[in-house]
Amino acid sequence: MEIEKHSSSSKRDKRTGIVIVDTIILDAREQKNIELCADVIKSGDLVAIPTETVYGLGANALDEKSVAKIFEIKGRPEDNPLIVHIASIDEVKPLVKNIPGVFQRLADKYWPGPLTLIMKKSSIIPDNVTAGLDTVAIRMPVHPAALALIRTFGGPVAAPSANPSGKPSPTKASHVLNDIGGKIRYILDGGDCEVGIESTVLDISGETPKILRPGRVTYDELKSVLGKVETPGTGEVEKPASPGMKYRHYAPKAPLTAVIGSPEKTAKYIKENMDYDAAALMFDDHALSNPKIVTFGNSDDYSAQASRLFDALREVDKMGASVIYAQVPKEEGLGTAVANRIKKAAGSSFVNV
Ligand code: TXA
Ligand code: MG
Repeated sequence: MEIEKHSSSSKRDKRTGIVIVDTIILDAREQKNIELCADVIKSGDLVAIPTETVYGLGANALDEKSVAKIFEIKGRPEDNPLIVHIASIDEVKPLVKNIPGVFQRLADKYWPGPLTLIMKKSSIIPDNVTAGLDTVAIRMPVHPAALALIRTFGGPVAAPSANPSGKPSPTKASHVLNDIGGKIRYILDGGDCEVGIESTVLDISGETPKILRPGRVTYDELKSVLGKVETPGTGEVEKPASPGMKYRHYAPKAPLTAVIGSPEKTAKYIKENMDYDAAALMFDDHALSNPKIVTFGNSDDYSAQASRLFDALREVDKMGASVIYAQVPKEEGLGTAVANRIKKAAGSSFVNV
């Protein structure tokens, strides 16, 4: 990063003008660190926070200026709204215009946890949080440090994944340090994220609930609670109702090709196409023995794949390959969400074998 001395105590990035600070990693198990981070949020600044899905970049959700810093640091397009994180169900009421009929059933079953619910917003939420939409995304994380921070701060915390826009989400404090170190003062280290991919986003603001982003809470689980659920694949949801889904995501430096088919066939395809310039993400039980292979769980272990995927993408990126192949799991259960992230990382480069 090109830097210049700004004053005796601060430096700025020449290109973005963002002040460069020393970033400190704090142990989330210590109450004094939770208090320090809550104070930082109260003062209008940002803190990276652990959640069970991925690390988030948190700010006071009711303060437009704090929220604007999130967009600046991530380089996030202004039309991509943020998720508001809360620590108890009673906090929802002031944030929404009305509570949809299905809300209580979903909150009872999945909160705290990796399910984000989209509802009509109330006027207390600044427009930049929702990117001007009339709906707001709300989630109650289950990670104890996230809950403790939100409670100690005493209000809702807006937090996208703590990566620069377009890059893989961070699942370890070290990923955050690598991605946005120097741009924020503190990273609250709550260990590796257990789920490893972002929450399921479910829109309950309309007649039929719609999954806008697949995640740990699966289509089958939601269907069993709700009876009827739409997915982006079921036809009716034409334009991407979740603005974030239209952008390229999780992109490694080298172009990634998603290899779709049975584990046997995709492994065979990768074997035939691996040359000195290639690297690959493969299932443990089908991996080639080659130093340019990074594994991310067994072919039928979707939980392991989810928790490994983003770290594996970062690892494979470091190999300096000019092409990356990735085996794609079967689109069932949590495999749907893992496949979704790999396909997003691929942009439009797929092969069906
Ligand atoms: O697991 C997660 O959800 C993580 C952790 C930190 O909580 N957060 C996260 O945030 O993944 P982010 O900003 O990376 O993704 C939020 C997604 C985006 O696709 C965004 O477009 C969508 O949620 N979203 C937010 N508000 C929305 C709204 N009002 N309507 C439709 N989609 C919305
Ligand atoms: Mg994100």
